[in-house]
Amino acid sequence: MTSLPPFLLNDGTTLPAVGFGTWRVRGDEAVAQVRSALDAGYRLIDTAASYGNEAEVGRAVTGTDVPRSEIAVASKLRGADQGYDATLRGFEATRTALGLEYLDLYLIHWPLPRLGKFVESWKALVRLREDGLIRTVGVSNFTAAHLDRLIDETGEVPAVNQIELHPGFVQEDMRAANADRGILTQSWGPLGRGKGLLERPEIARIAAARGVSPAQAVLRWHHQLGVQPLPKSADPARQQENLDLTGFSLTDEEMARIASVPQERLGGDPDTHEE
Ligand SMILES: NC(=O)c1ccc[n+]([C@@H]2O[C@H](COP(=O)([O-])OP(=O)(O)OC[C@H]3O[C@@H](n4cnc5c(N)ncnc54)[C@H](OP(=O)(O)O)[C@@H]3O)[C@@H](O)[C@H]2O)c1
Repeated sequence: MTSLPPFLLNDGTTLPAVGFGTWRVRGDEAVAQVRSALDAGYRLIDTAASYGNEAEVGRAVTGTDVPRSEIAVASKLRGADQGYDATLRGFEATRTALGLEYLDLYLIHWPLPRLGKFVESWKALVRLREDGLIRTVGVSNFTAAHLDRLIDETGEVPAVNQIELHPGFVQEDMRAANADRGILTQSWGPLGRGKGLLERPEIARIAAARGVSPAQAVLRWHHQLGVQPLPKSADPARQQENLDLTGFSLTDEEMARIASVPQERLGGDPDTHEE
């Protein structure tokens, strides 16, 4: 399997073209899934304090033969830990649960505008980066207005914004907003959470014509948009399949047809979502 080139971030660091998601996976199953993902070649693992699996992700990362320096571990600050001092404590709890000296990527999970603490939380993330405890800092589920508030009030541009993005929710405006500010877009729910989207005839037809699976066609679509998908799979064969995105490419017409499926947000609205 040839691999896709990594992304160069606005802070000079790099992240692999595709990451591995771990939402809703807990306990020994989480350890096993992350272990097999590392064996398959994933080098970015995405977790969050609110997933309740940081200890298991950490066990898989520290228990593998793959050197720590080659694995990017990403986690996210939960809403209850927003605020400057609370963020410092929340990060420390995450770092302890993971059993790691540093994190490669740490994101504010949701802006929670009604709570009104994301700028203070962001200042704490920047401090943790300056202290060498986080390599790259970013956000998740931020709108253009939220991004501009952070940038205007702190002068610090996030390196990453992780947003819901899949053919059923193409996020053209947010992709452009991130790109205009030099921010890498990460796609959560990149497969539209699996069922449904992957069974759409538009996608199945393109996949069959290219001799790939619907998931591979969709993940290649993300790649050609210049975004970084974080697919989750419990199945080692599908984990491998989801990394195997070279050897074919999509035409502009196929890209448009994949994005022509009905549009619907699956998760929360960043302006109103509360944790
Ligand atoms: N920042 C945020 O607010 C946020 C929110 C949601 C998610 N996330 C992150 O994004 C990651 C991915 O999102 P997600 O887990 O919601 O959904 P997803 O990756 O879009 O879809 C996962 C589903 O697709 C199935 N699947 C995976 N590969 C497949 C393949 N090759 N063929 C057929 N089915 C396949 C999986 O089933 P099997 O497991 O059975 O293969 C699973 O049911 C999460 O795990 C999490 O790390 C972040």
